[in-house]
Amino acid sequence: MAEKTERNLAYAFAAESKAAIRNEAFAKKADSEGYPQIARLFRAVSDAESVHARRYLLLMRGKIGTTEENIETAFQNEIKANVEEYPRLIKDASDEGKENVSKAFTLSRDVETRHAELYKKAMNDMLADRETEYYVCQVCGYVNEDKAPDNCPVCGAVKGKFKLVT
Ligand SMILES: [Fe+2]
Ligand SMILES: [Fe+2]
Repeated sequence: MAEKTERNLAYAFAAESKAAIRNEAFAKKADSEGYPQIARLFRAVSDAESVHARRYLLLMRGKIGTTEENIETAFQNEIKANVEEYPRLIKDASDEGKENVSKAFTLSRDVETRHAELYKKAMNDMLADRETEYYVCQVCGYVNEDKAPDNCPVCGAVKGKFKLVT
């Protein structure tokens, strides 16, 4: 099998995904410094890197299944992040006295449980004709159904910090 190519696709997918998020953050910064034109450029290139990342993901063997399989994969990934990955990251950050980083990891870990719960729910009523809207906390990533809560149950952020994602 073309092992190098599989490895390179995984590498390129990770690199382009990172570039997309990084450019988005650069765009926000440019906006806050009063450079809207530069912000638009960063956003456009961020979107372009996402195009690359998605194309590589589609080319990677077995990474995208049916929707039923994908929900199961997404659910398992959330559980793994919650019980295996984040606890180690939190511990390392604490051991090195990086409390702000430890706190960020802790918030993410707590939110992964919620993500898993939403996937579980989706698995159960995949065929049910239910319309749900999702509001995402822009501070910690908590996802609320149908409305923005007054305060985020994980990080306490106010209602205005929630974004409707369609
Ligand atoms: Fe998650
Ligand atoms: Fe939050």
